[in-house]
Formats: sequence, C-alpha cells, structure tokens
Amino acid sequence: MSLTHAATRRASRRTGLTAAAGLAALAAGAWWFTDQAPYPYAQRRLLDLQLPFLAKADLDQVLQPRPGERMLEIGPGTGLQTLHIAPQLGTEGRLDIVDIQQEMLDHVMGRAAEKALDVVRPHRADARELPFEDQTFDAVYLVTALGEIPEPGRVLAAAARVLKPGGRLVVGEFFDRHWIPFGRLHRLADTEGLHLTARRGPSVAYLARFRPCAAA
Ligand SMILES: C[S@@+](CC[C@H](N)C(=O)[O-])C[C@H]1O[C@@H](n2cnc3c(N)ncnc32)[C@H](O)[C@@H]1O
Repeated sequence: MSLTHAATRRASRRTGLTAAAGLAALAAGAWWFTDQAPYPYAQRRLLDLQLPFLAKADLDQVLQPRPGERMLEIGPGTGLQTLHIAPQLGTEGRLDIVDIQQEMLDHVMGRAAEKALDVVRPHRADARELPFEDQTFDAVYLVTALGEIPEPGRVLAAAARVLKPGGRLVVGEFFDRHWIPFGRLHRLADTEGLHLTARRGPSVAYLARFRPCAAA
C-alpha cells in the first residue's frame, strides 16, 4: 500500500468516528431536553438536598401555611416538603399529596407514619387531571415538579380549578433540565387566570405565589 493511500484511509476512518461521536452527542442532547419520564425513584437520595431559595424556610415565607387549612401538594417525591408542611396544618388540617409514582407515595407515607403525621393523604394520579372537586383547597403547592410534567399549562389550570376563591398556588422551580424559567411560568399562569402575588429568588431558583385573578 502506498503512503498516500494509507493516509487517505486513516483520514476517512477519523471522519467516520467524528461523525458517529457527533450523532451520539446529538441523540444525548435530544434525550436530555425531551425526556419526560418522572424523576426516577432510584435517585431518591438527591431529593433530600435543600436547594437555594427553595429551602423549607423559603417555602414557609411564600406558602404561609396555617393550622386548619386543607392543602394539596403535587409531586412530593420522597416528602421533603410534605413532612415540613403537614405538622403546621395541625390536627384539624389536611394535606393531600398527588404523585404519578406509587413508590414515591409509599415512601412519603412511611416517613409520615414514623412521625405519626396522620393528616397526610396519598393519591396516585396525574397532576393534569386532579381527582378533586372544584374549590377544595386553601393552597396548592409544587416544588421542582411542574417542569417535569408534560403540559405545565394544564397542571396550572387543574390547580386553579381545585383552589378555593382567594386560595394560594405556590410553584418552586430550580435550574435543571426540566426547569421552567420564571418568565415562562408567569405567562402560563396569566393564561390560566392566575395573578402573581409574591416571588422569592432569581429566575433560576425561585418560589412564586399566585392567586386566582377574580380574588387578586
Ligand atoms: C423532582 S421530584 C420533586 C420532589 C419534591 N417536590 C422535592 O422537591 O424534593 C418530581 C415529582 O413529580 C412527580 N411527577 C412527575 N410527573 C407527574 C405527574 N404527571 N403527575 C403527578 N406527579 C408527577 C414525580 O413522580 C416526582 O415525585
């Protein structure tokens, strides 16, 4: 084989490898941005980390839970927020939790039982179709869950439907691959008749509170 022929074959092999690597990177990128599977239970330990601007004290400030209230949490994961909010509702209050994954609900209920928190009620359901009557809740909240659920506008509409007049909806979002920037959330909420009443944190890590417009 001539030297020129060998060099041409090496160059062509390199081009093939580069193209394959490029295609693999594109496929990984497409998966990263379009995958809509719920958060894997196998990675549950990460959910115990408190995120900046979304920590328990921040949630208290924005959600303002009160004894006797009936609340709904969407996408509780392993219960970081559930176990913090439930005791603040007192024995007369109630915290319904909705998750699409039974493993998450079982995990939260196990932790709630250890703490004798009997105000927590689990429901396996899709947040786009909440299994509750209209105007049931004083407040609805979801932390790092909205961006993970396909059709977030439908989730906001469902949350608005089950809120009592004057009720509060609190959404927390953090910069990950499912993150909803604050501006987008604000526009989606506006479309669903929800009026912004408070916000804590920058667009990359925030908690925002809304009210149905009629009661704003
Ligand atoms: C990233 S975890 C957040 C958990 C928790 N809020 C936290 O901050 O630690 C998102 C949760 O939303 C739930 N989820 C995903 N899609 C859902 C859907 N369509 N309806 C209800 N829950 C859903 C997941 O199962 C998971 O428990």
